[in-house]
Amino acid sequence: METFLLNLAYLVASVGFIIGLKMLGSPKTARKGNLIAAFGMTLAILATIFIYPHTAQIKVPGFVYALIFTAIAIGTIIGWGIAVKVEMTKMPELVSFFNGMGGATAALIGLLEFHHNVGNPGKMFMVIAGMVIGSISFAGSMIAWAKLSGKMRKPVRLPSYNILNTLMAILIIALGAYIIYTGVANPAYIYALFALSLLYGVLFVLPIGGADMPVVISLLNSFTGLAAAFGGFLYDNMAMLTGGILVGSAGTILTIAMTKAMNRSLTSVIFGAFGEGSNAAAGSGTKIQGNVKEAGPSDAAILLNYANKVIIVPGYGLAVAQAQHVLHELEELLSKKGIDVKYAIHPVAGRMPGHMNVLLAEANVDYDKLVDMDDINNEFKNTDVVLVVGANDVVNPAAKNDPSSPIYGMPILNVEDAKNIIVNKRSMKPGYAGIENELFYNPKTSMLFGDAKSALTKVVQELKGM
Ligand code: TAP
Repeated sequence: METFLLNLAYLVASVGFIIGLKMLGSPKTARKGNLIAAFGMTLAILATIFIYPHTAQIKVPGFVYALIFTAIAIGTIIGWGIAVKVEMTKMPELVSFFNGMGGATAALIGLLEFHHNVGNPGKMFMVIAGMVIGSISFAGSMIAWAKLSGKMRKPVRLPSYNILNTLMAILIIALGAYIIYTGVANPAYIYALFALSLLYGVLFVLPIGGADMPVVISLLNSFTGLAAAFGGFLYDNMAMLTGGILVGSAGTILTIAMTKAMNRSLTSVIFGAFGEGSNAAAGSGTKIQGNVKEAGPSDAAILLNYANKVIIVPGYGLAVAQAQHVLHELEELLSKKGIDVKYAIHPVAGRMPGHMNVLLAEANVDYDKLVDMDDINNEFKNTDVVLVVGANDVVNPAAKNDPSSPIYGMPILNVEDAKNIIVNKRSMKPGYAGIENELFYNPKTSMLFGDAKSALTKVVQELKGM
């Protein structure tokens, strides 16, 4: 009966993870999806604490329960406190930190389970694999967190670090294989492997450019999922296995989607230090010549006021300026005048997956007005005015026209097809990829220079007077 109940709880939990993950796919259902997955996790934890000991015929002393619940309470209070306070732009570093904790847990499982499984090569493989991958994910995530929170600014490149990293990886595999096949019982071996894996995690992330961190975090996320899945195999725990596999595959798919949307290979992310000023070496792009037309807030307001159809393109600068609320005000003002207004969302606009969706949701922008790149790209040609706010690379036509450009091949928003283009940014400086943008020299483009928040506030004031 108990085994049936335990398996039922794990089954319900696993289904909860799957449904929750599916619902995270749309901003409308994401909150509910998160709660459903959290319910699944709570059920799995409670079943493990209360039902599992009966099935395994383990007598759990009262003080152990007290310890478990104290630990859960401390973790919940700290996690809740951090998550409630975090600002949206700090989300990638929070994800990195929490992911690191998942990796650390997998590593601790490996360390604790070592002596229980000496002499059983099959189980020892799970112990070692989970411990090694979890440790790499923990150490790597901590470095990623330090870089994103500005505690570590420059990528550190040790001389011949590629060779060093490869040698370390070989050493880790060799030591792991030695432990599994010889069945050594001396814990010194597992601690040595633990130390080596931590060092490898540090060396793996250290040289990667800070701006590439979102891709690396997603990769480390998939590592943590894999490590948890090995734990699931080890304990024969279906919920842990499903959860681990889901995290592992979601992380992998997200990593691939991000590199694809940036038109970069994973190896160039890992070995490239892109976005740290060294990217000029990747290809200089063509030098652009031409005139730049400047527009003031009132010119921009007039253009917008007489349009029938407007598309807003948000980018990283919108997040920097925290101008999402005033942008929403502008959009509502235009809609009230009977103008059709939509937002065009590029998959890698901003600095993390879903950055623009989350930012605009914070300002209560209607989800139906957010349109993905593939669905809106054909609409630009029928659009009177495109308003680009703090976006640069994701609207750079060089991605289509200039094979020498480092972003050549990256899918972009076809902003240049519109009848008029207003670009708001503070200067002519390049964006993340460090390259010039010919869109700014297009005769149809008017540059509205200034911080997004103050520039848009002025445009809103002008519009109110019209
Ligand atoms: P970017 O190309 O980085 O351009 C942002 C622009 O915003 C800059 O050119 C900057 O120009 C402007 N800006 C900065 N602060 C501003 C402010 N306060 N007010 C107004 N404008 C401001 O951004 P994007 O178009 O969103 O493209 C994203 C880039 O990040 C892509 O290259 C993408 O590959 C990369 N990336 C994305 C992700 C994800 S998952 N989203 C992950 C890693 C890398 P000024 O300095 O002149 O103001």
